Amino acid sequence: MDPKTVIEPFRIRMVEPLSFTTPTQRRERLQGAHYNPFLLRSRDITIDLLTDSGTGAMSAAQWAAIMTGDETYAGSESYYQLRDTVHALTGMKHVIPTHQGRSSEHILFSVLGVKGRCVLANTHFDTTRANVEYLGGEAIDLVIEEGLNPRSEHPFKGNIDLARLEHHLQRGGDDVACVLMTVTNNSGGGQPASLENLRAASALAHKYGRPFFLDAARFAENAWFIHEREPGQQQRTPHDIAQEVFSLSDGFTMSAKKDGLVNIGGLLCLNDDATAEGARSLLILTEGYPTYGGLAGRDLAALAVGLQEVTDPQYLKYRIASVRYLHNKLDALGVPLVHPSGGHAVYIDAAALYPHLRPWDLPGVSLCNEIYLEGGVRGVEIGTLMFGRPVDGAHDKPAAMELVRLAFPRRTYSQSHVDWLAEIIADVYQRRDSAPGYRIVRQSPVLRAFTAELEPV
Ligand code: F0G
Repeated sequence: MDPKTVIEPFRIRMVEPLSFTTPTQRRERLQGAHYNPFLLRSRDITIDLLTDSGTGAMSAAQWAAIMTGDETYAGSESYYQLRDTVHALTGMKHVIPTHQGRSSEHILFSVLGVKGRCVLANTHFDTTRANVEYLGGEAIDLVIEEGLNPRSEHPFKGNIDLARLEHHLQRGGDDVACVLMTVTNNSGGGQPASLENLRAASALAHKYGRPFFLDAARFAENAWFIHEREPGQQQRTPHDIAQEVFSLSDGFTMSAKKDGLVNIGGLLCLNDDATAEGARSLLILTEGYPTYGGLAGRDLAALAVGLQEVTDPQYLKYRIASVRYLHNKLDALGVPLVHPSGGHAVYIDAAALYPHLRPWDLPGVSLCNEIYLEGGVRGVEIGTLMFGRPVDGAHDKPAAMELVRLAFPRRTYSQSHVDWLAEIIADVYQRRDSAPGYRIVRQSPVLRAFTAELEPV
């Protein structure tokens, strides 16, 4: 017998209660949060799909590692456990821990020197883009055309457009600081890049003498998609595929809060000695000594275990199936989604759902708020609030897409949570014509989505 139901490949022996609110409480709380779900408190949220970052459950083996973490300032054994695990998985010569992904980005782009230069990526994640721009560089997104079309069923919508990449490499010369592939492509719908595309992008970068990096936050999910979808890869394990992907690169940044299966942590890994030396100097200045990089020894120990667990095919099969489960349910209802189902999240196309709202009415924000008001569920807007740009005296320059992301913490919610969630979204879908637009009342000059204050129009 080969059952069709994909089960959680773990059992649960520690639980955390959910909190429930009334519709009146939710209206009050949302108003108090200036209509920006980022400003809500967790006690006012029943199911939190804001992010899959640092929100998952650790395994018994990870908790055990926490208890034996070595808190030595310099030369911690936990560092060496982590270094050896990362080296075995990625082959990288220099393994530098950081407290999370964005500090790896800041250090990497500082050492590469992006000022007056550009970074070429499939799609920069928002902190990645912000770090490039903050350091005086230009972040250029070159995802394939299908990657910007929510309805395209292309299996690898995280691929970079190789022709445009070569054009920029040819024209840019030394002004190209590096090529960066985000796997999976978070801002483009959690869509994977294929092995073929990664190989070709790496070869092109190297042909023009430019370093090739990965933003490897969700490397294991990307490897699973390659295993599942790419011709000829079905016999290979996700671990083996991930090893090859890392071997194509000169280094990577990683938020370990995703596929590291930990609540905090990051990595900056490099092959080049001089770049690594520069990175370690900056690390000591801003994060900590190179054998702990802003983390406690116990965090390093938990990450070493998490990186071994995450490529387990049983885990990845369950992980991707559980996201697809909600995707298929919403698709059956007629909710416009980014297709095909992504790695860590379901993305709703808010522009298609709310045709009466224009980009500067923030349809994604409106949808997030409707979902919260309906059931205390929190998602996140990935649209004009996050990626749009204020323009003097005119409407904001809109983002490429108006999406709402429902991101799944790892090993945290069950199938009945998802069934319940689908009911909430079905109700929001039914009354889609009455969703209000929003306008920004206050915003900060960088990463405004996190703190902006809004009001309905
Ligand atoms: N790169 C990608 C692709 C990410 O998704 C994130 C974080 C980062 C870099 C930055 O890492 O948070 O550890 O500093 N993404 C989270 C999210 C915040 O919700 O998607 P960080």
